[in-house]
Amino acid sequence: FHVDLDPKEADRGTYPYYMLKEVDEQPAVLHRIQNAYFDTDDMPLLPANLLAEMQKADRLYIVGAGTSYHAGLVGQRLFEKLTKIPTEVVLASEFAYADPMLSKHPFFIFLTQSGETADSRQVLVRANEEWHAPSLTITNVENSTLYREATYQLLLNAGPEIAVASTKAYTAQIAVEAVVAKALGVALKISTAQDFKLNHELSLAANAIQAIVDEKATIKAIAHRDLETTRNAFYIGRGVDYFVALEAALKLKEISYIQAEGFASGELKHGTIALIEDKTPVIAIVTQEKTASHTRSNIQEVKSRGAQVSIIVSKNLAKPGDDIVIPSLSELLLPLVSVVPAQLLAYYASLERGYNVDQPRNLAKSVTVE
Ligand code: G6P
Repeated sequence: FHVDLDPKEADRGTYPYYMLKEVDEQPAVLHRIQNAYFDTDDMPLLPANLLAEMQKADRLYIVGAGTSYHAGLVGQRLFEKLTKIPTEVVLASEFAYADPMLSKHPFFIFLTQSGETADSRQVLVRANEEWHAPSLTITNVENSTLYREATYQLLLNAGPEIAVASTKAYTAQIAVEAVVAKALGVALKISTAQDFKLNHELSLAANAIQAIVDEKATIKAIAHRDLETTRNAFYIGRGVDYFVALEAALKLKEISYIQAEGFASGELKHGTIALIEDKTPVIAIVTQEKTASHTRSNIQEVKSRGAQVSIIVSKNLAKPGDDIVIPSLSELLLPLVSVVPAQLLAYYASLERGYNVDQPRNLAKSVTVE
C-alpha cells in the first residue's frame, strides 16, 4: 500500500519532526476545509444525493479506530445536537464481529484517515453485503479502499499526514463532521443547525489554534516539569472534554510511552482516584460551561491527594492561575482547539524522554490487518 505524496507538502522543511509540522498546519487545514465545503455564506455545499439519503436515516452509526474513533465521539454530539438523529459511535474492531440490533434505516459514517484500516473495512463489508445499508466514508486519501467501497465519500483535505501519531486528521475529521451535521440539520429544518454559524466558528477555531501554536513555551515547560520522568499521567474532563481527554491520553501513550488514561472526571471518585499519588500529573480540560464547576471540584479532590494539576480551559471559564487558556468559541467546536495543547504536551514529552516522535515503537500509520 502506498500514498502518492505531493513532494512539497510531504517535505519536513525546517521542522525536526513531521508531527510538529502537522500540529502547526491545523489552522491552514481548517481554512482548506472551509474553502472546500463553503461558498461565501454559511451553508455548506454537499452532494444533494448524500443529504437526501442521510435524511432517511433513523440512526447514524459512526465507525472508527484509534484517533478516528475519538473524532467520532465528538462527532456524535455534533450530529445529535444539529440533526436530532440518534447517533452511535462504535469501535470498528468490536463492531465488525458484534450482533448489533440495527435500526430500521441505519446510515454508516466511516472515519478513517488512511482509508485502509482493516477493522473499519470489515464493518463496511458487512454494511454492504449483510445489512445493505448506505454509507459515507470521510477520509484523507482519495481512492483508498474505504473511499471506493462506500456509497458516498468526502475528503478531509488535511494534506498528507506522515507522523504515526495523528493530529491534523483528528481536527479535520471533527470539522468535516460538523460540516455534514450542519448541512443535514439545515436540510431537516432543525433550528440549532440553522442558527449555527459554522463557517464563522471554523475561522475562530483556526485563529484560536494559531494562537496556541504561536505560544508553545508554556506547554513545553509543563512537559519538562511533569512528564519527563513520570510513569503515568491522567487527563480528565466531562462531555466532549472527556472525549478530548481520551485522545490526549492516546497521544501520550503513543509517542512518550507514559501510561496515560483519559477519565470522565466524575468517575474518578468511583475508583481511579486511588491511583493518585504525590506529584501524579493530572491534566484537566474545562471548556463546557454546564460542567465546569463540577470538574473544578474534581480538580480539588485530586490536588488534595497530591496530584500535580495543569488546566486547559476556555477563556470564558478561566480563573487566575489556570495554565493554558484557549480562546472561547462554540462549545461544540472547542475540541478542535483544546486538543492542540495536548498534542504539543505529548510531542514535548516524547522529545524530553529522547524518543523518535514520528516513528514510535510497535506502531504503524496504517493498520491493514485485523
Ligand atoms: C493506526 C494509527 C492511528 C490511527 C488508527 C486508525 O493505529 O496509528 O493513528 O488513528 O490506525 O487509522 P485510520 O487511518 O483508519 O484513521
